[in-house]
Amino acid sequence: MTNRHNKAEWAQTHDVPEQWQERDFVDNWVTRDDGRQDQRGPMIEAAVSAAPFPADMAVRALDVGAGYGLLSRRLLERFPNAQVTLQDVSEPMFAHARERLAEHAGRTTFINSDFSQRDWAAGLGGPFDFVMSAIAIHNMYNDDLIASIYKDICGLTAEGGMFANLDYAAQAGGVDTHVQWLKEAGFSAVDAEEINERTVLLKASK
Ligand SMILES: C[S@@+](CC[C@H](N)C(=O)[O-])C[C@H]1O[C@@H](n2cnc3c(N)ncnc32)[C@H](O)[C@@H]1O
Repeated sequence: MTNRHNKAEWAQTHDVPEQWQERDFVDNWVTRDDGRQDQRGPMIEAAVSAAPFPADMAVRALDVGAGYGLLSRRLLERFPNAQVTLQDVSEPMFAHARERLAEHAGRTTFINSDFSQRDWAAGLGGPFDFVMSAIAIHNMYNDDLIASIYKDICGLTAEGGMFANLDYAAQAGGVDTHVQWLKEAGFSAVDAEEINERTVLLKASK
């Protein structure tokens, strides 16, 4: 497998990990994202709707690269008995998420870990019925890393569970390649739903 992305080139057009540690960058990103909820809202809804569980189930969920908690909030609303673990490397993002999810404080756990490091999943607990992620994993510019993160996520997913990844797969290796990585990671069935020209919803069942 090759690492076909060059970090310097990538950084010219994409967000890079270090930026997520900067409060001003994160505050501006969240403000901008708040202003595009007409686009993001339906995508978030599609990702959370992929959870194939009854509404009253005590779903154990993990949000990878959770940011300010958009997916988590929708999941907590849809499944009133769910518990969500939010994983991210950015304390500025978690500050926003804690504020926005305050009403669900008893049902949320925040874990700071860096999924570019191979021990990122060690403190997360699990297994999880539903693992979800939105526009986070593409931030790795490295094919091997993305493939190994998918393996880690499969290891965190319960038998009968699902991973829903809403991401810019086309620009980070290609949609077919992501489907292949998810199958190699151990998921039994993988479906790719094109949301728009940039975004795909990858649904992987275990
Ligand atoms: C574009 S934001 C998306 C946030 C959220 N998932 C959403 O949809 O609004 C990307 C998120 O990925 C996180 N992230 C980037 N690189 C990461 C890494 N190596 N480990 C953990 N989180 C990371 C960032 O801190 C940020 O919160």
